[in-house]
Amino acid sequence: MTVVTAPGGPRANARPFLYGDEITAIARALESGQYGHGAETEAFERELAAYLDVPDVVAVATGTAALHLALLSAGVAPGDEVIVPSLTFCASVQAILACGARPRFVDVDPATLCTTADDVRVALTPATRAVMPVLYGGRAIDLTGLREQLAAQDIAIVEDAAHAFGSYTGPRRVGAAGDLTCFSFDAIKALTCADGGAIVPRTAGEAAVLRRARALGITRSRADRGAALSYTVDGTGFRYHLSTLHAAIGRVQLAHFPEMETRRRRLWTIYAAALRDIENVTVVDLDVAHTVPFTCTVLVPAPLRDEVHTRLRAAEIAVGVHYPLNHLQPAFSRWASPLPRSEALWRQVLTLPFHPAMTENDVHTVATALRRTLRLAADNAPAGATAPNQDKGHRPHPKETSQ
Ligand SMILES: Cc1ncc(COP(=O)(O)O)c(C=O)c1O
Repeated sequence: MTVVTAPGGPRANARPFLYGDEITAIARALESGQYGHGAETEAFERELAAYLDVPDVVAVATGTAALHLALLSAGVAPGDEVIVPSLTFCASVQAILACGARPRFVDVDPATLCTTADDVRVALTPATRAVMPVLYGGRAIDLTGLREQLAAQDIAIVEDAAHAFGSYTGPRRVGAAGDLTCFSFDAIKALTCADGGAIVPRTAGEAAVLRRARALGITRSRADRGAALSYTVDGTGFRYHLSTLHAAIGRVQLAHFPEMETRRRRLWTIYAAALRDIENVTVVDLDVAHTVPFTCTVLVPAPLRDEVHTRLRAAEIAVGVHYPLNHLQPAFSRWASPLPRSEALWRQVLTLPFHPAMTENDVHTVATALRRTLRLAADNAPAGATAPNQDKGHRPHPKETSQ
């Protein structure tokens, strides 16, 4: 096995990980002369479906395109509301707006940074048409107890599983629970196509709608292929297909994915052990036994977070903050209402460098720097700044209350 990207260590927050044979696959795809949607794309779809143990998968150009099409196929239209956590990448929200619908932002659980069934239940209104749980860090979300109510009200669950390819929900992979599930295969995801995405449809009819919509609304029977004079536009559509070149990368990545699962679980577990005893650090739990971790996120006291972030960045430790809250973004503020838990949490979030080429030594470098920097920041902070519950509206994590 050859890792063809430079290791990056703690200087990268996230990075693509290549196995080496992507280069041959790309060369083969280039030589084929067919670069758009093609046989590679369809083979990738079949292999994804087999891996996830689902009847079908529809490949698309990006995770954002996957969300957009999934919402449309669930019937989301102007005037509808879609429930979504504010703590997500802005792509989740843009996909809702692209349907002409409006986001209804909800809080997340501080222990997981994921939405709970209770958060969703209280946000339901007569206008709710879909719920978009975001599987933060790759962790599956349990909406047991709410599913029947949503089904009875004809409200779809469109999972934003951009982070969660390969993770489990119960005994099956995410995507196999019967919801419309959307994955991202962008550059830094556990499975990368450079750019790409996929949707697990709920029915064969939905798969056909999605395939048409990703190809500008064009329908064409297999027999028609190559007959350039004939095509029929049967509905709304976008240029959202996954190219042969991207699919070729994805197929290689999928064949190696068991190795990726092991690498990411191991890295997260090493991190959790290295961070366990650091004062003022709470590791956001990912249920690592069932998750292919996408991030290692920690919570630190809000008054120290920005200084810790700045100092670590200056020391070339690429910490990040995922994500700036969407309801506070200028473009989305007209749909905002206060979310005290998310607002308190967001000021505590730090995402640590996390990518599969990192070594155990890299993790210890990050942990040592975090410990040292937190001490420095605490020494500079006004007395009492790191006392538990300093944030109004912050629901204390068990570790904080035990200090
Ligand atoms: C939570 C979440 N949703 C959606 C997306 C969009 O995926 P893509 O970048 O493939 O469009 C991302 C990408 O990082 C994401 O993190």
